[in-house]
Amino acid sequence: MTLNAILRAPIAPRAPAPVSGYQPVSVEILGAVGVLPCDVFLVHGGRAVLYAARGSDALDVLQRADAGVALCIHGEDSELLRRGLSKAVSRILADQSLPPVERSRRAYGVMTYVMGPILSHESQVDRGGLDDASVAVDALMGGLTTGNDLVWSMVSTMNRHLSTHTHAINTAVYAVLAAQALGYGPDEIRDIGRGALLHDIGKNRVPPAILDKPGPLDEAEWVTVRSHPQIGFDIVVRAMGAEPSYAKIIAEHHERADGSGYPHKRLGKEVGKPSRLVAIVDAYDALTSARSYKGAMSSYGALWTMRFQMRGQFDARLLSAFVGVLGGWEKLKKADLRNLELPPPEA
Ligand SMILES: [Fe+2]
Repeated sequence: MTLNAILRAPIAPRAPAPVSGYQPVSVEILGAVGVLPCDVFLVHGGRAVLYAARGSDALDVLQRADAGVALCIHGEDSELLRRGLSKAVSRILADQSLPPVERSRRAYGVMTYVMGPILSHESQVDRGGLDDASVAVDALMGGLTTGNDLVWSMVSTMNRHLSTHTHAINTAVYAVLAAQALGYGPDEIRDIGRGALLHDIGKNRVPPAILDKPGPLDEAEWVTVRSHPQIGFDIVVRAMGAEPSYAKIIAEHHERADGSGYPHKRLGKEVGKPSRLVAIVDAYDALTSARSYKGAMSSYGALWTMRFQMRGQFDARLLSAFVGVLGGWEKLKKADLRNLELPPPEA
């Protein structure tokens, strides 16, 4: 298999016949890790056969792989692979041999893989998982400071179907971009990126039947949904053994400037500025992404909705700054986002 074929292989794990105790892993994900942190197996005749040993050069091994090969790792090694991949994000983003779009696509795929187990329903979040997430999002933050090409390639790459994993990554990217534009220092940007990435981690404890319910929620279901900011805060504090500096963002991301938010109906500046910023980018990504029960709004439509239909809910100055950030994207410039007094978008 050529290097090009490896780089362009699908991000989604190939699905061989399941082998008990093993989990499938895509060629591209393995290729990103550099040195294999664990043994890799070939699925053959319903069994897992050792294919490459831990410590091997991943690209070297994969270049020799046959097309269509189905690989897997032992389930107990998934954390090792995740750790290796979290460290690979910075290397991928800095790889000048690849065009920005390709770097973004690969980094996004790796981020999705790293975040998967942490954001899965009822997952046991531990310090190792949160540390891996932090390493990955910090690398993303570093990559996004290097140039506009990479920034807008990353935004173009973002998956517009709203799932917990992709929404977390998208929110982190937008939050970091906005924080940079607002002139925050590196420590604050790092916290905003981490808090944005983990803002919905409390949804791990909300039943998927409620999260994905196509119709309106009843009052009991709303009570459950409204518990996720506090649950998320508790999860990270427990996992880290102390309150990390980004935890407040998780607890406050559904508060609204006019007091209409939850869980505490805090007003305006009673809510931390980083939390107010993440509230904006969270809402924007939710509106511009498709769900099982709704289509995706255009960028213009989402910002119009936030500015007018949700009037007063967001910090006006921060919302303007975010519009300015998006205005840097050539495509969006054409929609003249700075002129939000335009008539409503067509349905
Ligand atoms: Fe949320």
